[in-house]
Amino acid sequence: MSAPQSHRGIILVADDNEANRELVSALLTAEGYHVVCAADGQQARQAVDSDSVDLALLDVMMPRPTGFELCQAMKSKSETRLIPVVLLTSLNSEADRIHGLMCGADDFLSKPVNKHELLARVYSLLRLKQFTDELDNAETVLFSLALTIEAKDPYTEGHCDRLSKYSVALGEKLGLPEDLRVALRRGGLIHDIGKLAVPESILLKPGPLTPEERKIMEQHTVTGERICAPLRSFRHVLPIIRHHHEKWDGSGYPDGLKSEQIPLTARILQITDIYDALTTDRPYRKALPLEKALAIMREEVKRGWWDGSILQEFEALVHGYEPVHPGVR
Ligand SMILES: [Fe+2]
Repeated sequence: MSAPQSHRGIILVADDNEANRELVSALLTAEGYHVVCAADGQQARQAVDSDSVDLALLDVMMPRPTGFELCQAMKSKSETRLIPVVLLTSLNSEADRIHGLMCGADDFLSKPVNKHELLARVYSLLRLKQFTDELDNAETVLFSLALTIEAKDPYTEGHCDRLSKYSVALGEKLGLPEDLRVALRRGGLIHDIGKLAVPESILLKPGPLTPEERKIMEQHTVTGERICAPLRSFRHVLPIIRHHHEKWDGSGYPDGLKSEQIPLTARILQITDIYDALTTDRPYRKALPLEKALAIMREEVKRGWWDGSILQEFEALVHGYEPVHPGVR
C-alpha cells in the first residue's frame, strides 16, 4: 500500500527499545512519512507539545510517562485530544487493550510490528486526522466570522465570550449533559452569525427600526441556522441559533414557539444574553448594577418573556446560593 499523497503527516514513534524504534521509523520513512523519534515518555511528551504531530505510535512499556499515561494525558487536553494514538504492545493481552481503550487509545499494534498492518493503520488514522483537521478549520472559520460581527459594535466587545461562559455555567448547574454544554459554549459565540447577512445600515442603526428593517433583522436567526447546518458537529447548536429570540408567551421569532416548546438551551442563552446586555455599557446608558439588572429581568418574566425557573437558577448562580424552594427566593 502506498502512503496518502495529499497529506503524509508527522508521525511520532516513541519506544525505549532502539531496535523497534528504528525498524518502525525506517518502514514509515520509506513510505514518505516524516517521523519524529522519542526514546522515552518524557521525550515523547515534548514532541507532542512542540512538533505538530499528526499521529502518535506509543510503546506502552516505555519509561514514564508510559504509553498509557501519555495517551491519557493527550486525550484529556483539548489541544492534543484529536491526535490519533496507536499503542504498541508486545504483550497482546486483553487486559492491556482494555486499559488502552480506557486511556482513549484509537488503535493497537502488536510487536513485532507487521509492516502491512502498520502501514494500513497509519494510512487510515492519518486520513481520519485530516478530516478532523478540516472540520476543526470549518469551525474556526465560523467562530472568526462570528467575531467579526461582534467587532462591528464596540459596545458588544467580549459579549459572546462572556455569554458562552455564563451559559455553560448555567447549563452545568441545571445538570445538562456534556454535548449540550458544548453546544451552549459554541452557541454563545455563534448565535448571531446570521447578522452577517444584515446590512450595516440596519445592524448599526442608532434609532428604532422600521417594520421592514425589523423583518430583515429578524432573519438573522434563520440565516444563522442555514450557515451552520452543514456542520454535523453543530447539530445541537442549531436550535440555539434559530430560537434565541423566541419568547415564553409565544410573541418572539422566528417561529412564535411558546414556553417549553422553546429548546432549553435557547432559553438558557436568552437569560445570560439579557443579563450581559444589561450589565455592560451601551450607547444609551451605563452598565446597570447586578440587582437592578436582575429586577428588570424578573419584571420581564412577569411580562411573559422569559422562563422564570431558569432566571431563578441563574440568580442562584450569580449570588452563589441555591434557591430555597422552587418559585420562592
Ligand atoms: Fe440574536
